Amino acid sequence: MPREKELSPDELGPPWTIRKLLRWTAQYFERKDVTDTPRLDADLLLGDVLEMERVELYARSKETIDDEPRAEFRALLQRRADGEPVAYLIGRKSFWQMEFQTDERALVPRPETEVLVEATLELMPETPGRLVDVGTGTGAVAAAIASERPEWTIVGTDIETETLALAQANLEELEFDDRIELYHGDLLEPVPDDWQPIDVVVSNPPYVPEGDRSAVDIEVRHHEPDDALFAGSDGLAVIERLVPEAFEYLDDDGWLLIEIGHQQGEAALELFDEAGFSETRIRQDYSDRDRVAIGRK
Ligand SMILES: C[S@@+](CC[C@H](N)C(=O)[O-])C[C@H]1O[C@@H](n2cnc3c(N)ncnc32)[C@H](O)[C@@H]1O
Repeated sequence: MPREKELSPDELGPPWTIRKLLRWTAQYFERKDVTDTPRLDADLLLGDVLEMERVELYARSKETIDDEPRAEFRALLQRRADGEPVAYLIGRKSFWQMEFQTDERALVPRPETEVLVEATLELMPETPGRLVDVGTGTGAVAAAIASERPEWTIVGTDIETETLALAQANLEELEFDDRIELYHGDLLEPVPDDWQPIDVVVSNPPYVPEGDRSAVDIEVRHHEPDDALFAGSDGLAVIERLVPEAFEYLDDDGWLLIEIGHQQGEAALELFDEAGFSETRIRQDYSDRDRVAIGRK
């Protein structure tokens, strides 16, 4: 979107129309350098307060806003300026064209994780099978895959019980709770015995090196759960346990797909090869960065 003209001092003040408030807020976010998407953030927050979609905000841009919603909006924009992710402030995030409830119990689903979903779907036939999503978070990956493969049954695991409660709420809201079972525990360990062998294991595990903590955006560092992000000094602490464990649980010819950090491609392939996987490869995201490690048992 082209940059809008700065509001002049005599424009600052009532009447506060939707348009003026959005311009002011986007400029405020830009000045404070809190986000790469100042106008989008302003739209999402005001849309949430006024219960309007973005197109409605534009269609009704000349309407003035009452004091009460304006005060509610002001409180939200302050929290945004303090680094809280928009998805937590408005309580939802869209992923694979579905809306997921989001809060501090789980990582906000990222657009790049859709590459993991795409890569997984390419390897899944339409015929029935069993898939486990390790570290399911909001349940976004499991639900996205369930939406595309109605014949498959899916299990999601997570180490955090509170995270699973959020995932369960999402699955119920999206009506996947009859096809996706959630289990609490470490990696694949909670998957029931009678649910093995597994055809596909997919995971977006924590993979950020501890040493990169200060380089991670403040909103991520201060607001999203540590357990969902960081994994030892090289970021591989969870992945190096998951790869050999998945090999044990997978059916012959089964697939393992793991989202990785963009500098972890080589190390991930080594782990896959060591565990005995074949057809190992790395899939890049839309910025041509290493994103998903793939292997077949
Ligand atoms: C990067 S988040 C991914 C969440 C979600 N799958 C997504 O893509 O948006 C990683 C998730 O793995 C969970 N987790 C971390 N260590 C785990 C472990 N050892 N076993 C199972 N889940 C784990 C975290 O609680 C978190 O929900």
